[in-house]
Amino acid sequence: MDHFELRNGVLHCEEVPLPEIAAAVGTPVYVYATATMRRHVAVLRAALAPLDDPLIAYAVKANPNGAVLATLAQAGLGADVVSGGEYRRARAAGIPPEAIVFSGVGKTAEEMALALDGGLYQFNLESLAEAEMLSAVAASRGQEAPVGFRINPDVTAGSHAKISTGAAENKFGIAIGEAAEAYARAAALPGLRVRGVAVHIGSQLTSLAPLATAFERVGGLIRTLRSAGHAIEVADLGGGLGVPYDPALPPPPSPDDYGRMVCRIAGGWGVRLVFEPGRLIVANAGVLLTRLIRVKPGARHPFLVVDAAMNDLMRPALYDAWHAIDAVEPRGGRTIANVVGPVCETGDTFATAREMDSVAPGDLLVFRTAGAYAAAMSSTYNSRPLTPEVLVDGDRWVLVRPRQDVATLIAGDRIPPWLGITGS
Ligand code: LLP
Repeated sequence: MDHFELRNGVLHCEEVPLPEIAAAVGTPVYVYATATMRRHVAVLRAALAPLDDPLIAYAVKANPNGAVLATLAQAGLGADVVSGGEYRRARAAGIPPEAIVFSGVGKTAEEMALALDGGLYQFNLESLAEAEMLSAVAASRGQEAPVGFRINPDVTAGSHAKISTGAAENKFGIAIGEAAEAYARAAALPGLRVRGVAVHIGSQLTSLAPLATAFERVGGLIRTLRSAGHAIEVADLGGGLGVPYDPALPPPPSPDDYGRMVCRIAGGWGVRLVFEPGRLIVANAGVLLTRLIRVKPGARHPFLVVDAAMNDLMRPALYDAWHAIDAVEPRGGRTIANVVGPVCETGDTFATAREMDSVAPGDLLVFRTAGAYAAAMSSTYNSRPLTPEVLVDGDRWVLVRPRQDVATLIAGDRIPPWLGITGS
C-alpha cells in the first residue's frame, strides 16, 4: 500500500498535489511519502511482534537520503550498512551505534576502525581473511569486535541473477560446509567476540520457500556451532522480501506471512533476531516524477521521450525491471507506447510496448515504486546533474536534496595546468 492517489483527477503524494512539486522544483524529481515508510515499519514490526526484541536494521543502500534515514531512525529502526559512507550517514541521521550492523565482502581496515571507534552492534564477516583483518585492527587498538559470519547456504533465491546472493557460486558469505572450521579459527583470534550468524540470499524475493530453506540450514548450523562450544546469541536473517511492482502479477508474500514463517523456524533458537529490510520499507514510498518532452514516431509504437533517464533510474536498464508508469493528470484515454529517456543508449528504455495513460508533451508522469535502489543508484552519465529529492509529510513537503547544478559537475574536474586552459 502507498500514499500516491488520484484526487479530483490529480495524483497526490499524501496531501500534496504532485504538479505543485514539479512547478516548484522542476523535473525530474524523486518524491517520497513519509506515511508509506511509517506504515511499512509498523506492518513489519507487527509481523515480528511475537519475537523477543528483534532488531530491524534498515538496509541503507536502498535509499540513503538523510531525511529518509532520520524518518526511519525516529520510527525506531537501526541500520544495515556496507561502507564507511553508509555508517557515517546512519550515524548522522541519529541511528544509534548499538543498532548498526556492518555487512559487505570488502570492508577495509579504515572502515573497520571507523565502526569500532563509533560503535556498532555487529560486523557480519564474509571470509576468514576478513576475520583476520578485523582481529588485527581491533587487537591493535585494544578493542573487541562483536562478530558473526555471513553464511552462504547455497540456495537458489529465484530472483534476478544480478540480485541473488545465496548460491554457492556467488561472492557472498562462507560456504555453510566450511562454517564450523571458520568459527573455530575465528574464536581463537584476539580482538573478536564471535557470537552471531547471518544470512541474506537475495533481493526482491517473491517466494518464502528459498528463505525458509536458508533459515532451516542456519538453524542446523547454530546447533552444530553450539555443540562445538560457541555461544551463538544473534542470528541476522537479512532482508530480501519482495514488493509489488506490477499490479497484474500475484503479490509477493506479505510481511505477515514472512513473520509467521520466521517465528515457526527461528522463534525457538534462543537468539536475538536481526532483520535487514530495504526495499520493503521504502520502495513503494517513492515515485520518480518526470515530464514528457516530446513524442517521436516509432516503427511499431511511438517513443515517449521523458526528462528522466537511465542515469536517474537504472533498474530497467540493469535488471529489465518493470515500473508502473502513470499520468499525473490522466486525460482519460489509453495508449501503447515505448517510454524512453534522453540518454544516448538503447538501454535508456523504461518500457516497451507499454499499455498506459495517453499523454501529450508537457504532461507529468510518474514511475512508481521508485523509493528503493533508484535515487541511490543514480549517476551523472551524459552530464545530467543528480536528480533532486522531496519528502512529503501530510500536507507539507520539503526539498531533502536540491538539484545538483551543472556548474558543480564541471567544477569537480581539474584541468591539468600544462594544458593552459582557464575555462569560461
Ligand atoms: N542485507 C544485505 C546484506 C543486502 O545485500 C541487501 C541488499 C539487503 C540486506 C536489503 O535487501 P532488500 O530487503 O532491499 O531486498 N539494486 C538492486 C537490489 C540490490 C540489493 C542488494 N542487497 C535492485 O534495484 O533491485
